[in-house]
Amino acid sequence: MADPYIVMEHISKRFGSVLANNDVGLSVRRGEIVALLGENGSGKSTLVNILAGIYLPDTGSIQIDGSPRFFHSPHDAIVAGVGMVHQHFMLIPVMNARENISLGEKGYVFNKKAVSAKISRVEQEFGLTIPHDKKIYDMSVGEKQTVEILKVLYRGASILILDEPTAVLTPQETMRLFAIMRNMRDAGCAIIIITHKLGEVMEISDRVAVLRGGQLTGSVNTRDTTPRELTEMMVGASVSLEINRPAPAASVKQPMLEVRSLSLSNKEGVKVIDDISFDLYGGEILGVAGIAGSGQKELCEILTGLRHADSGSARFEGDELLKLSPRAIKNRGIRLSFIPEDRLGMGLVAGMSITDNVLLRHYDGTPGIFINRASGKTQAETIVQRYAVSTPSVNHIVKKLSGGNIQKVLLGREIETNPRLLITAYPARGLDIGASYSIYDMLNERKKRGVAVLFIGEDLDVLRELCDRIIVIHNGTLMSIVDPFLTSKEDIGLLMLGHR
Ligand SMILES: Nc1ncnc2c1ncn2[C@@H]1O[C@H](COP(=O)(O)OP(=O)(O)OP(=O)(O)O)[C@@H](O)[C@H]1O
Ligand SMILES: [Mg+2]
Repeated sequence: MADPYIVMEHISKRFGSVLANNDVGLSVRRGEIVALLGENGSGKSTLVNILAGIYLPDTGSIQIDGSPRFFHSPHDAIVAGVGMVHQHFMLIPVMNARENISLGEKGYVFNKKAVSAKISRVEQEFGLTIPHDKKIYDMSVGEKQTVEILKVLYRGASILILDEPTAVLTPQETMRLFAIMRNMRDAGCAIIIITHKLGEVMEISDRVAVLRGGQLTGSVNTRDTTPRELTEMMVGASVSLEINRPAPAASVKQPMLEVRSLSLSNKEGVKVIDDISFDLYGGEILGVAGIAGSGQKELCEILTGLRHADSGSARFEGDELLKLSPRAIKNRGIRLSFIPEDRLGMGLVAGMSITDNVLLRHYDGTPGIFINRASGKTQAETIVQRYAVSTPSVNHIVKKLSGGNIQKVLLGREIETNPRLLITAYPARGLDIGASYSIYDMLNERKKRGVAVLFIGEDLDVLRELCDRIIVIHNGTLMSIVDPFLTSKEDIGLLMLGHR
């Protein structure tokens, strides 16, 4: 068997009181895809950031192609052929694809033609394309990611690191990404991918390395392992991967939310919400299934007062919501937790502590100027405990948490305000398996207490296990409201694609 191309040995990295990597070893061959797996906060991003020259390890060594390497900056790593696509994209929105890809290269502003030609060659070699003149702010997530990958390939990288590349991709975009990864593998690149989705690990990787609490718990060939075994390596115990669905509250006859003929057009006059009607009862979880961009975001925004519908009505306990301000809607106990593509963009201030971020939410509806910090601290401590946020304390700055733990703070903050109607979109994005299931438990807990939950999801298995009924939308229209017990995944998939 070929010698390893990348060898990382005895890597340790401490952040204050947190030992993020503890004597970790990892090696990857050319033409190999290694999946790096582990719970939120187990040290995955830290390890690959060390390989990419972003963090200096406290101890340990890196060899590439037999030579020892010391990376003191991302630039050193790039020169050695290491390219990384981050958990949070690092592109400049006002620039176009070409400018972002060639940024930092000498004379990149003047050599438009030469740069474009070089990008085209890379596109052909690895089977991906992007309009070179398109501005980043006009791009979908999938397109932005393509730009990030092209940027890496453009610089001749032979090592590609992808940190949760599929967390925000549609299934189609994921398939496309995997095809590119296979092309790179066939061209002799070494690839490391971080993902929480075990199905993807089984599909795309040749080998899996598992981290737990900063230590490597094992490295196995993908074909010799199973999702169950991987989960056990990750968590350190056997875990049940099942959602216990309580029955919907039977006594509720009156819908809590009545949506009628809701419509909204975008700037171009295209209907993004087209005559949607449904009822949502207290003590029920109503799912929304649809391909990304089918109107989910707009529906959430309308129901929380962030956007005005063109026509239609939404009555909450008899009162018209659409005439109320976002604050008035919030005061009625309606909460939105939307996990966007860019987690740090939505309602969390990265440079503030967990406590301050919790206070931010709890006091925006309260009159008066005095802020009760003590109760904010208690609330933050409750969230940290109930949602198993791994952090040294509630005074920790949010941006120093791992990706999944940032998300737990965001979710906990909304759910713990005791809403009557909870609208939650993609809550499990970027969460490890255990954390995802505890969020589903938390939603079921609210349901048992009579809360009405609108759950916008992306994983059909989860939607079918968690929800009492599922609305399927396609291009802003409601295709059908289905019973998850009676409708197969394939049938829901067809409805999502617009086939009745
Ligand atoms: N810059 C930093 N400052 C302080 N602590 C940090 C920093 N980066 C990471 N940590 C801590 O190191 C630990 C490991 O974090 P890391 O981001 O590597 O986890 P992860 O495995 O990538 O998790 P996730 O799946 O949630 O993205 C966490 O406890 C995190 O809070
Ligand atoms: Mg991470």
